[in-house]
Amino acid sequence: GSNSMWGGRFAEGPAAIMQEINASIGTDKRMWREDIAASRAHLAMLAETGIVSRADAAKIDAGLQEIADEWSQGPIEEDLALEDIHMHVEAKLRQRLGPVAGRLHTARSRNDQVATDFRLWTRAAADRVDAGIAAMQDALLTRSEEHADTLMPGFTHLQGAQPVTLGHHLMAYYEMLRRDRGRFADCRRRLNESPLGSAALAGTGFPVDRQMTARALGFDAPTRNSLDAVSDRDFALEFASAGLQLSLHLSRLAEEIVIWASQPYGFVTLPDSFSTGSSIMPQKRNPDAAELIRAKPGTLLAAVTRLATMMKGLPLAYAKDMQEDKAPVFEAHDTLILSLAAMTGMIRDIDFVPARMGAVAGAGHSTATDLADWLVREADVPFRDAHHITGRAVAAADAAGCTLAELPLDTLRGLDERIDERIFGVLSVERSAASRTSYGGTAPDQVRARVAEARKELT
Ligand code: ARG
Repeated sequence: GSNSMWGGRFAEGPAAIMQEINASIGTDKRMWREDIAASRAHLAMLAETGIVSRADAAKIDAGLQEIADEWSQGPIEEDLALEDIHMHVEAKLRQRLGPVAGRLHTARSRNDQVATDFRLWTRAAADRVDAGIAAMQDALLTRSEEHADTLMPGFTHLQGAQPVTLGHHLMAYYEMLRRDRGRFADCRRRLNESPLGSAALAGTGFPVDRQMTARALGFDAPTRNSLDAVSDRDFALEFASAGLQLSLHLSRLAEEIVIWASQPYGFVTLPDSFSTGSSIMPQKRNPDAAELIRAKPGTLLAAVTRLATMMKGLPLAYAKDMQEDKAPVFEAHDTLILSLAAMTGMIRDIDFVPARMGAVAGAGHSTATDLADWLVREADVPFRDAHHITGRAVAAADAAGCTLAELPLDTLRGLDERIDERIFGVLSVERSAASRTSYGGTAPDQVRARVAEARKELT
């Protein structure tokens, strides 16, 4: 037979294949709590404004609560003919209450309904991601403080560049995450307007109180244009974009962990809790969690791509294309929450190997810049000349197979006579790192100061 929700004008029902392509219940059932919350807010408003009698509203509200109780106990029974979560709720309500259930949909359309539900869901998702990021930041602060003095090689081009402290390196990720939280907060702030009352596209002739429903659902205000409200999915794209950026940050740290855990580096030992073995090689301790996190930007970029491609060129207002909006956002959310939890666990439990990091912090003549800086500071040599003199010292050290600090003073004075024995005071990796006291620099005191300040930000 024809559809009980919208089938009035149809003599025959849709083909099975039509139902299958049309149905979204398998995906949007995840928004059932939001759907019921928005319906209850709508209903309270319909009663308050006299659009529906208080007696009918009370019956419908009790029915909605019963459905919520049932669905928090067990799975939702899906029926493709009922398309989506909105119609599943309404059908269930009708089963229980009979025709009075039909009054709930007064002054409403699934178009403002889905836009409202999805904003509510995405808002909660942004809050969950924010909490996950904050937990990871907390772990980073703990480990950064612990390793404010730990020396390691700092790289550019993955070539030894200048010594840095491990605390400083880890705090770099803290700052990335701080910006990520800002992006999710922006997304949340912009999405927090209520589409309810926009109805199908044009608004409604019923005397609805949009302020009331907005307030009840924790929105800052009602949206200002009904056409925009039912067809805007910017918020979904912003959520996915913020998520993509976050996943890129996580993937960089993941890659560093993979590198650090490899034997030639040996900078870290992965904890048992975040390692996997090999079914053939008994000695293996593999960084699978880090590798999987490294791979996740693919999933996040896919979400951005799917949403952007879906929205491109859509005429106003609602179009069914937009039903495809939820899966990528759900997947983006799930991926981020899991990645954050795994990364937070790894950061908490990983064993850093300061001896190994310190032993190679000077590799590749990483204090060469300190030699050049000394010439500038102590002998008033222009930096470009100092750079050149230092380059020759590096070549001499390479030829002699030693470090800069191991070159005899005579050899150094042969390169430039303004060099004296004080030079050896700046060539150690400890001195090099400790001298980088500029604001935001790697010196242990700078790191400790930033950790202390960040702790205040975080609470
Ligand atoms: N399931 C639909 C979606 O997610 C709900 C809105 C349907 N509106 C409509 N006019 N067919 O987009």
